[in-house]
Amino acid sequence: MNDTVNPERPAPASASTGQTPYSAWMQTDVLHSLQHPVSDHPGEHAWITSVQVSELYWMLIIKEIQIAQAQLRANDLTQACRTLQRVVAHHEPLNATWRSIAWMTPTDLLSILSRAVATYGKDTALQGWTYRYMVYLRGIKQAEHLQHFVPQPKRWDQLNKALAEPSLYDDVLAYLNRNGFAMPVAVLDRDFSVPYQPTKAVEKVWRDIYADQNDNLKLQQLGETLCDIAEGFSTWKSLHLMATRRSFGGRPAYFGTEGIAWLLPTMDEIPFPELWSARGFIGDPPAACPHRHK
Ligand code: HEM
Repeated sequence: MNDTVNPERPAPASASTGQTPYSAWMQTDVLHSLQHPVSDHPGEHAWITSVQVSELYWMLIIKEIQIAQAQLRANDLTQACRTLQRVVAHHEPLNATWRSIAWMTPTDLLSILSRAVATYGKDTALQGWTYRYMVYLRGIKQAEHLQHFVPQPKRWDQLNKALAEPSLYDDVLAYLNRNGFAMPVAVLDRDFSVPYQPTKAVEKVWRDIYADQNDNLKLQQLGETLCDIAEGFSTWKSLHLMATRRSFGGRPAYFGTEGIAWLLPTMDEIPFPELWSARGFIGDPPAACPHRHK
């Protein structure tokens, strides 16, 4: 006896949109129509999915940082910290995307990339505007990357605007200035499009904030959250570098120079510089006056 039940698909209601509430909300039909492999390599779908998921997380981090900036401008430190803690959390799944493509050998990667070049032309991830936007918001401002967006005038304009606007760190420093930790005018009123130059004055502010374990606790929490964000970002870059070593080796890359040699100096681009350099002094005993009587 055949017990298999073969239910007939019920006809949709006449007013149906062809969606369920879930599919309408999550846009699942659109989402799953966006992967178009160019090769016959069975792993290309994993590559595309991994990069697309990263793209979504980069945009999510952009939106969160912008929310935190607005909250800092409104002097709402509590909510800004909550938002920034979400950014810390988003780095976990973002960084885990590397596991999905860790199986790639150079043969796997090159068989996919060669088909991508044949289909779309020579590409580099430097042409990704989302990542660059996120990096500008983190305070790493390098105008030279705009060159990659000349074919996308709307994106070029958007990035050029982000380059000229305050980064998250600029908003943090302005917040500290308004709340009892005076900053030099040159730090607050500067051309935001040029790379940030760390100063001793800002380093001293962080040192003062951390001087007493029981004082400035909310600001210390802000500092630690920013450190977590910088660490999440540097971890992504380290995983990227290892994936490059593993699947590409010492080959020349987009610029004709060795890809690893291009990437290595970017490891030193760590956001919120004085928050890190101040750690060489935080916890030191206050300098004692040599003439003081015991
Ligand atoms: C595993 C194979 C990969 C290799 C061999 C590789 C290699 C490289 C190289 C050599 C560069 C330097 C610029 C260039 O020459 O193109 C670069 C930059 C970059 N790659 Fe990859 N990449 C890989 C995977 C990925 C993936 C999966 C993503 C995204 C999820 C990605 C995102 C980026 C970004 C955003 C940059 C710019 C980094 C910066 O400005 O500091 N890469 N990659």
